[in-house]
Amino acid sequence: MHVIAPSILSADFARLGDEVINVLAAGADWIHFDVMDNHYVPNLTIGPLVCAAIRPLTTAPIDVHLMVKPVDRIIPDFAKAGANIVTFHPEASEHVDRSLALIRECGCQAGLVFNPATPLDYLDYVMDKLDIVLLMSVNPGFGGQTFIPSTLTKLRAARARIDAYQGESGRRIRLEVDGGVKVDNIAAIAAAGADAFVAGSAVFGAGRDGDANRYDTVIAAL
Ligand code: DX5
Ligand code: ZN
Repeated sequence: MHVIAPSILSADFARLGDEVINVLAAGADWIHFDVMDNHYVPNLTIGPLVCAAIRPLTTAPIDVHLMVKPVDRIIPDFAKAGANIVTFHPEASEHVDRSLALIRECGCQAGLVFNPATPLDYLDYVMDKLDIVLLMSVNPGFGGQTFIPSTLTKLRAARARIDAYQGESGRRIRLEVDGGVKVDNIAAIAAAGADAFVAGSAVFGAGRDGDANRYDTVIAAL
């Protein structure tokens, strides 16, 4: 099953609870929660307090994408705030294997995020500690950027590695893509092997007035 994970980075923050409820009512599967620290990436967003505030609104998975450095000390806070999935960038962690183990110890699913120019080689060593692989199709930090086409080649490479691992282990790993996903390119992205799709501006840009029907239309088209 393909997963649609709207990024609330593009939601109306003055009405965040309603935005979360409306987008899920319109058919979204997960809530993608972008955490930026003005250090690892040049932008500043939301933290565990906001995650805890939206947690009671839904049982849908909250997919926390950490763009912070250091990584480890904020992981338990997000677990306590109700995160289901926690992903981070290997460049931001001193000890990638330890950070992945920590996420699972805290009771969450764990994932690594690969920037457009980050090689997939980490996968050779930590596949058994991963529940999800997230490929960035833009440079992290902002919503509304354009999908980088070379991501399609990288997605196919990641898909092959994951399929080989799944064949050996029988354990499923999701392949998520984040950045510039739109109605007109999602078919190509899915064909390259992604099975979870983050979409920020495509979803929330369609329903700026809070009209849930417009979220319905774009989510159905994704
Ligand atoms: C970028 C974020 C993305 C972003 C996606 O650093 O990780 O989740 O919000 O937004 P769109 O879909 O507008 O590219
Ligand atoms: Zn993200």
